[in-house]
Amino acid sequence: MIIITLCLEQARAAASRFPSPLLSARRLTKVFHLGTAVYALTGVTADIFPGEFVIIRGPSGSGKSTLLSLWAGLDRPTNGQVMMDGVSFDTLSEAALSDLRRRRIGYVFQLFNLVEHLSALSNVALPLTFSRTPHWYVEERCQRLLAWVGLSHRAHHLPRQLSGGEQQRVAIARALANEPALLLADEPTGNLDTHTTDEIMGLMAQINAQWQQTTVMVTHDERLDVYADRVLHMADGQLVAVSRGGRHR
Ligand SMILES: Nc1ncnc2c1ncn2[C@@H]1O[C@H](COP(=O)(O)OP(=O)(O)O)[C@@H](O)[C@H]1O
Ligand SMILES: [Mg+2]
Repeated sequence: MIIITLCLEQARAAASRFPSPLLSARRLTKVFHLGTAVYALTGVTADIFPGEFVIIRGPSGSGKSTLLSLWAGLDRPTNGQVMMDGVSFDTLSEAALSDLRRRRIGYVFQLFNLVEHLSALSNVALPLTFSRTPHWYVEERCQRLLAWVGLSHRAHHLPRQLSGGEQQRVAIARALANEPALLLADEPTGNLDTHTTDEIMGLMAQINAQWQQTTVMVTHDERLDVYADRVLHMADGQLVAVSRGGRHR
């Protein structure tokens, strides 16, 4: 009995030293057919571990957005596998995949993608619209999220009454509304000036540090490497290098 307990303890210790990936790409290929074939990804293999802040960096056209949209389950690969918590997306129906996306993944876009005629608060509440979450809890959680991103005083403003940085804060709060396991962001600072970029990156870093929010962010800005645990470098549809980010230096 003692031996079994010891073995279990050792197994647990080993598992915590080598955690299972939250998200994986296995030999991912994506080909778009536009008369001629465009090879957006040609065999990308990578793992993302729980709690990591990972940046995907590479020049325009290198396949960053394609990889992120496959990881988000927004599109299907031509070949290869995407897995989340060990479950391969190709075993899931479209309905099951969109359910997983709604429950487990938050997505932030370069152009914010807020709904123009809804207030900041209603935008944040959108992912919870069709959930069974009680109304009072939705209201309270969304108010708390807006406060957390520093926008309590803008709760009833429309997107066009907000600055770019404020709109992106609302979009980040919205992406977190359903407590996703995974936060994906495609060039979230691509439309912002340097000062606002630093504010948004500070916020994303704080979310990751405080809530151990697993975050994968695409950018072509090497200045942002300082915020990451790891940087995956892409070129011509391939993962060409992995480097340490500046977060722990
Ligand atoms: N929906 C699509 N249809 C056709 N070609 C596409 C599509 N999406 C991306 N591509 C092509 O795939 C390549 C990689 O694109 P993308 O993933 O958007 O790169 P990045 O985000 O690094 O700029 C580019 O050559 C792009 O033109
Ligand atoms: Mg892109």
